[in-house]
Amino acid sequence: MSMEKLKIESCIPLRDGTQIPQLGFGVYQLTDEQEAQTAIHTALDAGYRHFDTASAYENEALLGKAFAEAAVSREDLFLTTKCWISEFGKEKTRVSFEESLRKLKTEYVDLYLLHWPVDETMMSAWETLIALQAEGKIKSIGVSNFSVARFEKFFFKHTDVIPAVNQIEAHPLRVQADVQTYCESKTIAVEAYSPLARADVLGHEILKTLAEEIGKSPAQVILRWHLQQGRIVIPKSSKPSRIRENCDLYDFSLTADQMARVDGLEQDHSVIPWRPNDGVGWY
Ligand SMILES: NC(=O)c1ccc[n+]([C@@H]2O[C@H](COP(=O)([O-])OP(=O)(O)OC[C@H]3O[C@@H](n4cnc5c(N)ncnc54)[C@H](OP(=O)(O)O)[C@@H]3O)[C@@H](O)[C@H]2O)c1
Repeated sequence: MSMEKLKIESCIPLRDGTQIPQLGFGVYQLTDEQEAQTAIHTALDAGYRHFDTASAYENEALLGKAFAEAAVSREDLFLTTKCWISEFGKEKTRVSFEESLRKLKTEYVDLYLLHWPVDETMMSAWETLIALQAEGKIKSIGVSNFSVARFEKFFFKHTDVIPAVNQIEAHPLRVQADVQTYCESKTIAVEAYSPLARADVLGHEILKTLAEEIGKSPAQVILRWHLQQGRIVIPKSSKPSRIRENCDLYDFSLTADQMARVDGLEQDHSVIPWRPNDGVGWY
């Protein structure tokens, strides 16, 4: 990927022939109506066109309302939402998906993900995603929180249709290089959630030094590092100034040495209070 050419509109091609904007806006925890409206309109004004929600975030209707009021056409937006595990099942998943469409006030979603892996009901949910994609209601289908073992157990034994995306926790403290390498080998795009480690890492001395050296903030250094590693990235903020800061990533680049210094922060430290295991169950 050519760094000079990265821009806010830059897209990553998916295995199904569609394209996903590499930078998106995460909306987890944006459930206060006024805060969500301000954040989404600020994000749209700043140039974000890709939004990441989930039925479990309980804010799809707030996004639907904001987009209905915004002067942006549906074709110019890229909307991701997710099916929660309690809604996995042939019919249940369809009902949950239709409810998401209704709340988002849209006829289709660009990317629909199975939110967490589970053993029992996941493949029937996946069959429903395949059917909805064939009906034109979903452009791309994918998964989230999949380890290498999960992929091997389900997709490469039981189904021909491979997820286009795996959305995983990825940030300087935990990049999950094994999952990234595996997904690259199978042409599955990796999407980094909690890309700023939920702000836990922003005060790190190495990042503060790099930020000073480059003349950008620690958050911008991290987000640029993700972009240069080819990941899709979906930072969340409720603060207008930070929303703008987090997409102001295109007038600088990190050198190989600066990239390596961020890589050096890896310690397999999760900022998510749960973790799907590689066997049965999902914690
Ligand atoms: N698939 C999954 O299971 C899963 C799990 C978790 C998250 N996600 C998705 O990924 C998105 C992002 O992840 P996340 O929300 O967990 O974490 P994140 O984006 O890494 O971090 C968000 C936190 O960082 C703060 N922040 C953002 N920009 C900042 C900046 N420039 N300077 C200082 N602080 C900043 C935010 O505070 P303020 O809001 O106060 O600015 C918020 O507390 C979510 O919104 C969601 O869409 C998916």
